[in-house]
Amino acid sequence: MLEGEIKFGMIKKNVTDVAIKGKRLLIRVDFNVPLDDNGNITDDKRVRAALPTIEYVLDKGAKLMLMSHLGRPKGEVREDMRLTPVGKRLEELLNRPVKKIDDCIGSSVEDAVNRMNSGDVVLLENLRFHKEETKNDPEFARQLASLGDLFVNDAFGTCHRAHASTEGVTHHLESVAGFLVQKEIEYFERINLSPEKPFALVLGGAKVSDKIPVIENMLSKIDVLIIGGAMAYTFLKQKGVNIGSSRYEQDMADIAKSLLENAKTMGVEMFLPVDHIVCDNIDEPKHIKTTEDADINEGFLAVDIGPKTIELFKAKLRTAKTVVWNGPMGIFEKESFSTGTRMIAETIAESPATSVICGGDSAAAAKKFNVEDKMSHISTGGGASLEYLAGKTLPGIAALADR
Ligand code: 3PG
Repeated sequence: MLEGEIKFGMIKKNVTDVAIKGKRLLIRVDFNVPLDDNGNITDDKRVRAALPTIEYVLDKGAKLMLMSHLGRPKGEVREDMRLTPVGKRLEELLNRPVKKIDDCIGSSVEDAVNRMNSGDVVLLENLRFHKEETKNDPEFARQLASLGDLFVNDAFGTCHRAHASTEGVTHHLESVAGFLVQKEIEYFERINLSPEKPFALVLGGAKVSDKIPVIENMLSKIDVLIIGGAMAYTFLKQKGVNIGSSRYEQDMADIAKSLLENAKTMGVEMFLPVDHIVCDNIDEPKHIKTTEDADINEGFLAVDIGPKTIELFKAKLRTAKTVVWNGPMGIFEKESFSTGTRMIAETIAESPATSVICGGDSAAAAKKFNVEDKMSHISTGGGASLEYLAGKTLPGIAALADR
């Protein structure tokens, strides 16, 4: 379903609630983009996602200081992690000059900021070149905050981190959400507090361990839990199904068992694959087969959900009014193993339900199968979206001013 009029969860102040004209705005963005070996941006989605806020505040006559991390340089200056290519891309997208500075604090930054006029855009250097950023060092946060009159957080991907640029600066400046963060808050608050029913949660991907807090938090809210991808095999093994050579997490067996029991007690309908696409070797498969039922013979491992499972999952998704999807159903990067993920992506896209897509792999799948525009919301956060679904408080959001 396309994005509707979601007014729920307008709990934090955003850029429309504050006076901006002539102000110096310190804006935290998530420009943690993928770069190839030559330093070229291979996906500029995160830069584009920040444009609505940037364009709005520029239009209102602000001076902009954008700050971001890129990768995990751990307090060292890394030439391959400079934000220079991002500055160039932003300049193209905004069609106006972006002054990239080679540090994020200190006299060179202060000089540049003091010379700014309304409508100027400065991009500070990778925050994580200073180890104080991830340590949320109060003095580093104070130095960052001294550059602005107002702080805007538009970096949902880092809102689960209590870092100097997401939490520390909020002790010094009035702090509001940008449009990207505001939209994420609205969707996740709605999911957590008042989802339209029936509510289906679709989980896939590699690891059960990453998703346990999400399942534990969501069981009381959902009606249907659909599990595919590699994580399904830990649950199937627990149920006594022969999973052949499929990967599973032995140390998660007890937790998988109690989650199965809890789902039953709480009246949540839980669906696991009833057939599979299997092969003898992922990289160089000599044999690719569809199983008759849930059992997999020795020597074969599951790489996608089978056709009966696709029909089962599709039928459940068609009746849902809210769908949250995190994690692919199989190894969708390989054409032969991509059908399950494609069918789930297309079914969610065609459904009238409010659909929220979380995590980098599901977002990549929605893009690959050309259904991005038909989802209500594709979250820009990986870890941040999982923590929101797990019901945790995100420090970068908690620190913003309430309405
Ligand atoms: C992300 O890519 O999920 C965000 O930019 C956060 O990055 P981090 O996990 O290195 O904090």
